[in-house]
Amino acid sequence: MQPAQLDLARYTVRLASQTDFAGWRDAARRLTLNEVRPEDISWGVGSDANDPRDALPAVPEGAQLTVPREFIAHAETAFCHSDPGRFAFLYWMLCRLRTEPKLLAIASDPDTRRLEAMEKAVRRDSHKMHAFVRFRKIGYGEDEHYVAWFEPEHFIVERNADFFVRRFTGMRWTVLTPYASADWNGERLAIGPGAAKGDAPDQDDTEALWLTYFQNIFNPARLKVKAMQKEMPKKYWRNLPEASLIPDLIAGADEAARDMIARLPTMPAPHHAKLQAKHWPKREPAEAPDDDANTISELREAAKGCRRCPLWRDATQTVFGEGPDDAKVVFVGEQPGDQEDLAGKPFVGPAGKVFDAILDDAGVDRQKVYVTNAVKHFKFEPRGKRRIHSKPNAGEVQACRWWIGRELELIKPDLAVALGATAALSLLGKAIAVTKMRGQVIEREDGLRVFITIHPSFILRIHEPADKEAERERFLSDMREVKRLIGS
Ligand code: URA
Repeated sequence: MQPAQLDLARYTVRLASQTDFAGWRDAARRLTLNEVRPEDISWGVGSDANDPRDALPAVPEGAQLTVPREFIAHAETAFCHSDPGRFAFLYWMLCRLRTEPKLLAIASDPDTRRLEAMEKAVRRDSHKMHAFVRFRKIGYGEDEHYVAWFEPEHFIVERNADFFVRRFTGMRWTVLTPYASADWNGERLAIGPGAAKGDAPDQDDTEALWLTYFQNIFNPARLKVKAMQKEMPKKYWRNLPEASLIPDLIAGADEAARDMIARLPTMPAPHHAKLQAKHWPKREPAEAPDDDANTISELREAAKGCRRCPLWRDATQTVFGEGPDDAKVVFVGEQPGDQEDLAGKPFVGPAGKVFDAILDDAGVDRQKVYVTNAVKHFKFEPRGKRRIHSKPNAGEVQACRWWIGRELELIKPDLAVALGATAALSLLGKAIAVTKMRGQVIEREDGLRVFITIHPSFILRIHEPADKEAERERFLSDMREVKRLIGS
């Protein structure tokens, strides 16, 4: 067990901040290589004009610190724990590991257990932060900015900021917490000082929409009060607008469960509604938009108002094809996914990343090809806050074939590539067995050659690494064949 820290420490280490892991690492390395005992060090946080680390002993010449590599990863996570004794504890662990390199594998050791518990608490807090940060809008138009107040238990802002950058890349936002803030201006992430709850707005005009949304997604038939409170502990409720609804929703759950059977699907989340409003045309377009488009950009414009099937209602926007309008090859996917729906561009999500990487390996330049989808609106099932992809049916594919037909008429490619069964159905007008026909070229009545292959998301769904790699290789050789067929 770690000894109690003595007041009369020989060395004082002042870290630059609660999350200054680099500073701790540097000090710990110097101290342990000089065989300084844990009880001879006092650890703290706070800047000082004279960096006391200068007063720490230098690393003795030729001395090398060897500790199991995984310790650094464990220590970096545990370092975010709010326990003020963590700096000393991690140093104590470091010293033990120098003589007991297998220590981390001894699950019964109290120090190993403490390290694991600290990491678990940090990970759990991070998970809660991902789930319970609620942005409120301030400003309009150019000044639009989203601000959230969150009270983490641990020092986790820095390690989670990238998550919010990825999730809300297109927004300008700030997350305020008592010890630090993260600010994204659309291009750059800045970590700043902490704030007070009063610095964040406590309401905005999207709040009513969010509350309605929450009421709609609340599934009374699946209500398990204990499980819910474990997932959403009460301490987070004070900063969650929807928490005020929970007692009533629980009380009315039985009745609501009966009603729910007849209820319509949920509304899209508030940020979808906002994006949707931005993309909805000023006037209601006719069922079939005027067909006077002479260029791909005119056609794209017309497609914004497409009402050929009901999918436009819940989708954020039409996701039209992208690429040069004289491309030699047109790749056709199934339908936009969640990320494509928000970005308004095809193949920018996980399947798009796989697709891009393999095209690149095959020497096909994505900038020179045209990429589109059989169905131009995202079809999904709302599940909680997530929107789960739902396969378009034959009627929806048929309704959208009109757009593909016009895209092909205007681009006049040498080859179309059907990525999966839905694309093949759209391009050929009949269902085919993709696994049987893969790698083959089918010539349509109008002379267009259609190359058949799988959808790249198929590779994403394979878990077994060897099978995944084999499938990737097959798709890569399909893409090389496409390159050969277009003579590039
Ligand atoms: N899957 C598709 O078929 N198309 C996209 O745009 C994204 C994922």
